Amino acid sequence: VEPTQEWADEVRRLAEKRNATILAHNYQLPAIQDIAHHVGDSLALSRIAAEVDSDEIVFCGVHFMAETAKILSPGKRVMIPDERAGCSLADSITADELRAWKAEYPDAVVVSYVNTTAEVKGLTDICCTSSNAVDVVASIDPDREVLFLPDQFLGAHVKRQTGRDNIHIWAGECHVHAGINGDELADQAASHPDADLFIHPECGCATSALYLAGEGAVPADKVKILSTGGMLDAARSTGAKQVLVATEIGMLHQLRKAAPGVDFQAVNDRASCPYMKMITPAALLRCLREGRDEVDVAPDVAERARASVQRMIEIGN
Ligand code: 13P
Ligand code: SF4
Repeated sequence: VEPTQEWADEVRRLAEKRNATILAHNYQLPAIQDIAHHVGDSLALSRIAAEVDSDEIVFCGVHFMAETAKILSPGKRVMIPDERAGCSLADSITADELRAWKAEYPDAVVVSYVNTTAEVKGLTDICCTSSNAVDVVASIDPDREVLFLPDQFLGAHVKRQTGRDNIHIWAGECHVHAGINGDELADQAASHPDADLFIHPECGCATSALYLAGEGAVPADKVKILSTGGMLDAARSTGAKQVLVATEIGMLHQLRKAAPGVDFQAVNDRASCPYMKMITPAALLRCLREGRDEVDVAPDVAERARASVQRMIEIGN
């Protein structure tokens, strides 16, 4: 299925007929981003999912995002065009592993990145996304220990920003972002000395970027550690003519739309998330025609997870 005008018309017609809102993450294929009713980062999409008044939500993103929408809007039918769209980061900690970790630190506050399963969220005190992780951790009593999971690079960023030394960080990672490494970034920054650097905190290179800035190899004001939504805000106000972007390459589409006069280049142009790209034009059409794949979260699990997700959408608003 090609994303033709006929395809777009049919998608919109079916969405209207079903009374469905189509949400798309910034890493989706350009055609999917362009047809969606709302495009955004994980936090913005969760907030929209909590508030939309349609009967159905079609989540063009990965499974944990659709689960989060279901947790926040249990009365709605939530669908994902391909339920196999998982996430290597969410897979990096299981509920049993978290139970065992909590048993070691029974008094700690558990902060989980939204990239986790509903079961893990059910064992969590506060969820966060990359756009509010620092605010979430800063909101916790400085004397309480914190367990931060599952992303080690985002965890290192939060630790640096908050200056806390009582934060324990799980050693998980997203294979796409971990693959954007410091050497690549250093080479690109050296050959584009006037460019801004937009870096997602899940990247393996986030620490090296700050190191380069600390060493004076890159001007510190050019290094920006940002969520995907934060990158769009920064794109609209940057004075730079060129920006090197360290995140999943789907992001370039929204950046180029937001600031057409700026030249955005991927630090690693192979950084494509295979799960995000499972949401094809054909899959979206099938989803709207057949009403699947429906995403369900067991009511008791959703009940346990809801408070932590609710706190996430309230903090940093
Ligand atoms: P954000 O859009 O919240 O920055 O998340 C990035 C991500 O990796 C989602 O899978
Ligand atoms: Fe998960 Fe990484 Fe893909 Fe985001 S880019 S969905 S964190 S595997």
